[in-house]
Amino acid sequence: MAAGKTPKKAVEKPSVFESYRTKRGKMFVGRIEDALDHTAVRRLEGKVNLLLTSPPFPLVRKKRYGNLTGEEYLAWLEELAPRLAKLLAEDGSIVIEIGNAWEAGRPEMSTLPLEALLTFKKAANLHLCQHLICHNPARLPGPAAWVTVKRVRLKDSYTHVWWLSKTADPKADNRRVLLPYGKDMKALLRTKQYNAGRRPSGHVISDTGFLKNNGGSIAPNVIDLEAAQHVPSSLLKFSNTAWDARYRAYCKKHRLEAHPARMQTTLAAFFMQFLTDDNDLVFDPFGGSNTTGAVAEEMGRRWVVVESSVDYAEGSRGRFEQIQ
Ligand SMILES: C[S@@+](CC[C@H](N)C(=O)[O-])C[C@H]1O[C@@H](n2cnc3c(N)ncnc32)[C@H](O)[C@@H]1O
Repeated sequence: MAAGKTPKKAVEKPSVFESYRTKRGKMFVGRIEDALDHTAVRRLEGKVNLLLTSPPFPLVRKKRYGNLTGEEYLAWLEELAPRLAKLLAEDGSIVIEIGNAWEAGRPEMSTLPLEALLTFKKAANLHLCQHLICHNPARLPGPAAWVTVKRVRLKDSYTHVWWLSKTADPKADNRRVLLPYGKDMKALLRTKQYNAGRRPSGHVISDTGFLKNNGGSIAPNVIDLEAAQHVPSSLLKFSNTAWDARYRAYCKKHRLEAHPARMQTTLAAFFMQFLTDDNDLVFDPFGGSNTTGAVAEEMGRRWVVVESSVDYAEGSRGRFEQIQ
């Protein structure tokens, strides 16, 4: 080396860094385990109104993100759960979506998704407000070996959604996610005629109980995102595939792989509308293509999202019109 020249120091990339920010939110790249120690995330402790996420799953992780087995996965979740719960506001909620999984090589369902949810709940000492099913009838038949080839199992078409919270009574209002009334209810409200009295179930229907127009029917705990009558009218715009088209076009243009396991936009919108107010803070520790941030931005919520893959975070820029 020439005299007087000092060797160049290798610039170490921080394990967590801000990838981009928008008017309402910030996207961080890094593993959530590290991000939870980052000042920007620690500042959120006790402030998150909704933690909405679909975590990586061991079968997927095996292929893409490492080699965690079922036991290791549960141990990893067990350690992470209380750290994530610490971010939650007193009346905040955690909503976790997790799909079904199958044992390798045989037509048997894995109990791991349920064990994972239970582990998370117990480790963070949370309340289970409700277990919902997110039904997606448009899903392709699978697992193929048992459903379409051997034809010994039915099409797997739903995911589990667990709604958890610190207290048994977190902020929520089902009037914000009312579904359009069906044909019969509309007719009833028009004609004001129905049979009152005791039903075989034992329920007593009063003379006027069904005559009040409450603006829509109460959403059930099975959410069917394909059927317009299962989506609150105010959220119908999120079922519009234009949402995803913009993201996919951006990824294509920048030669990035579109995320293979994106959360349904309508599902994210449903829970934000149900469980948060304007300007509330939404957090996703496993952001992927940043469905959570994009929906939060559109709905006037603040958001912070963490994703370990630089490429997925890069692709997620395509979900926003304006990045600051
Ligand atoms: C099921 S995907 C989430 C998809 C996302 N909800 C969406 O709509 O695109 C899980 C994501 O977690 C990321 N991930 C895996 N391990 C992680 C970790 N330790 N910290 C942060 N992100 C992680 C993966 O890269 C993957 O994108």
